[in-house]
Amino acid sequence: MPEIIIKNVTKRWGNFVGVDNLNLTIEDGAFITLLGPSGCGKTTTLRMIAGLETPTTGEIIIDGQTVFSSTKGINISAAKRDVGFLFQNYALWPHMTVYQNIAFGLETLKWSKEAIKERVSEMLKMMKIEQFSARYPAELSGGQQQRVAIARTLAPKPKVLFMDEPLSNLDAKLRGEMRTELKRLHVDTGSTFVYVTHDQLEAMTLATKICLMNEGVVQQYDPPLTVYGQPANLFVADFVGNPTMNFIPGRIGSVSGNSAEVELLGKKFTFTSCCPLDGLKGDVTVGIRPEFLPISDNGSIVGSVYSTLPSGMETTVKIKVGDTILSSVMFGSLNYDVDTDIRFSIYSDKILLFENESGRMFASGSMK
Ligand SMILES: Nc1ncnc2c1ncn2[C@@H]1O[C@H](COP(=O)(O)OP(=O)(O)OP(=O)(O)O)[C@@H](O)[C@H]1O
Ligand SMILES: [Mg+2]
Repeated sequence: MPEIIIKNVTKRWGNFVGVDNLNLTIEDGAFITLLGPSGCGKTTTLRMIAGLETPTTGEIIIDGQTVFSSTKGINISAAKRDVGFLFQNYALWPHMTVYQNIAFGLETLKWSKEAIKERVSEMLKMMKIEQFSARYPAELSGGQQQRVAIARTLAPKPKVLFMDEPLSNLDAKLRGEMRTELKRLHVDTGSTFVYVTHDQLEAMTLATKICLMNEGVVQQYDPPLTVYGQPANLFVADFVGNPTMNFIPGRIGSVSGNSAEVELLGKKFTFTSCCPLDGLKGDVTVGIRPEFLPISDNGSIVGSVYSTLPSGMETTVKIKVGDTILSSVMFGSLNYDVDTDIRFSIYSDKILLFENESGRMFASGSMK
């Protein structure tokens, strides 16, 4: 089973750097999501691993075999890399029915008629498109076509599967169902999945590891909950999580061992970390996830309600403290009148301190 190693891979077009010195090891059987804003280099990365785009420099190794090396002059074609892919602009064969579209790849691989029939039925069922089996692509909606494309890609059980925003045409409900199916499928097949998305929720829920990119540069490569709880820098912290993390300007006072005095929202707090805080000084940015600002009558900080956004299971309350607007997420449906006073506290051992200049996360800890 394959492990994919990407070493110092750069892709340039003229002076423009699309992907900058990428180093990544994708473990065998992993479900990796490449996440990042539009234009950050996700599709380019995927295409380079798949063999559809030639890197400017670097080396790519799949299953112990060097499939690309700029120095050794190796560039193995996509067809010989034993990978399946499903791209943003998938194209179904218009002159073939849904059934034929899914069966075609298996016929090329010389599967027996019986095995093909069984596999296609299985895929039609899994993707909930059995009733469209005899239709042509032009007779299907965009979402239905996308499901056929997924079925066609998964049918031959590829060892490595690359997917580029495969669920983007589906409505929210179907997308949720397909995520569940993909996650099961990953376990069932034991294949390595590399999945591109700019949807952070999708990346969080599906992946064993997220590779978060910005402007061609990897910002963090870690399991989803590490990316969420211990973001490497301000960009990662801001990109992951909805509503986004609160970033509050703070000022460090005296530091002693694992604790530091922090001035924040006009009050003084003591920040305690697991590690020594030597070198921490001056202006910092304090990052607090909205779920760590619970509203309660005996909260230590007073603010006023800016707006309340109930969404059923939870409610986001925007709270104004001085010039700062904070987000607090509370479980259940709540409603507060605009401009009324409200009390809240900071409650978590996952409060983050970021260096202003580099944006790097310096420490995480609790604040009293
Ligand atoms: N053939 C090309 N020539 C020049 N620039 C290119 C080419 N292909 C891609 N780029 C540029 O490289 C950057 C990365 O593109 P890429 O398609 O990898 O982004 P992406 O992260 O997949 O974005 P999206 O989420 O919008 O699909 C973009 O700025 C894009 O304009
Ligand atoms: Mg893309």
